[in-house]
Amino acid sequence: MIPFSPPRMDKKIADAVVEALYSGWITTGPRTKRFEKMLTNYGGQVTTLCVSSASAGLELMLRWFGLKEGDEVIVPAYTYCATANVVIHCGARVVFVDIGDDFNISVKAIEDAITPRTKVIMPVDIAGFPCNYDEINALVAKPEICTLFKPESPQQVLLGRILVLSDAAHSIGAIYHGKRTGSLTDITVYSFHAVKNLTTAEGGAVCLNLPAPFDNEAIYRELNAKALHGQTKDALAKTQIGSWRYDIIEPGYKYNMTDLQAAIGIVELERYDTDMLPRRKAIFHRYAKALSTYTWAQIPSFETPDKTTSYHVFPLRIKGISEEQRDKIITGIFKREVAVNVHFVPLPMMTYYRDAGYRMPDYPVAYDNYSREITLPVYYDLTDEMADEVIRAVVEAVEAVEEVVR
Ligand SMILES: Cc1ncc(COP(=O)(O)O)c(C=O)c1O
Repeated sequence: MIPFSPPRMDKKIADAVVEALYSGWITTGPRTKRFEKMLTNYGGQVTTLCVSSASAGLELMLRWFGLKEGDEVIVPAYTYCATANVVIHCGARVVFVDIGDDFNISVKAIEDAITPRTKVIMPVDIAGFPCNYDEINALVAKPEICTLFKPESPQQVLLGRILVLSDAAHSIGAIYHGKRTGSLTDITVYSFHAVKNLTTAEGGAVCLNLPAPFDNEAIYRELNAKALHGQTKDALAKTQIGSWRYDIIEPGYKYNMTDLQAAIGIVELERYDTDMLPRRKAIFHRYAKALSTYTWAQIPSFETPDKTTSYHVFPLRIKGISEEQRDKIITGIFKREVAVNVHFVPLPMMTYYRDAGYRMPDYPVAYDNYSREITLPVYYDLTDEMADEVIRAVVEAVEAVEEVVR
């Protein structure tokens, strides 16, 4: 069986973790700080806070912005549940909007959904392909949209407009107009979950890029406390001579990254551009070249003059099929010993959100994309021969569903 997304693990990573294990310090410490600096240099944002997951990072930033009951957050209907669940945790309302042909949030749909209660927009770079950030940033800065904005918290007053909090769980290393995700919006959050391009087993990072007069470094310090129970010092700082005394300035969260995770992340990031991304890119090109010879195959956008994906997963669509036919094809692919997936079942189709009153007919593009989508595996250890097996399994399974090729 060709698995869907095994992590790349080798001696280099094992050695780095063992070294951290015996270093005398295994929770947040020097490795986490070093990883944060490396991420800042890589993404080009002003500064970076490592956290325990992207979900934690997104929620931390919604709470930092003062999100509360009665507020609205615009989220694409087509995303993983984390993007929307964190909004619910804060007591605010999720406003789902439809997506475009590239799987990403539609800027027109965002514009139509903005109300005086809108506090945050959360674009998601699905499969690693960046959203239309110039348009989104221009939209929130429009004078008539700023006039609608009703700031309540000190952070909202200072920003004076809707916050763009981008969910870049899939898109570390993706490029938009020559810049990497991390530096494209006010705040960007990466995920280092086990299936992501760059993993720390579990983990995430908050990239801060807030405009003046925000002091991103001061916010970084504030967030460090917020992510550690509101403590004024972390455990390492407390071990220094005369530094045992600390204060609790707020009832914060427990969202810190450990040095064991950071040890993995450092190795991953050191070789990310030179080794990891080129391999993923080669797999994308192999799939695109082979599958584009079939009239039924719809190849996703992944390299355009403006954008380059992070080659996270390959969201193939099959033209003109129903959801049931797609499901049959997936079963056929699995029977041929290849694991595939669907990214994503739109959230309004999930029980919690459906019961909350969201209706799929309101998101027709999301439904169309979902119903014809099959995610093909992309990972470092997937060889050319394995990629060819994936292609063969897909072609055979599609062609076995007669209606598709007729
Ligand atoms: C689009 C998206 N957002 C957020 C997350 C949450 O990431 P984490 O597991 O690091 O909390 C994921 C994870 O799969 C995701 O796919």
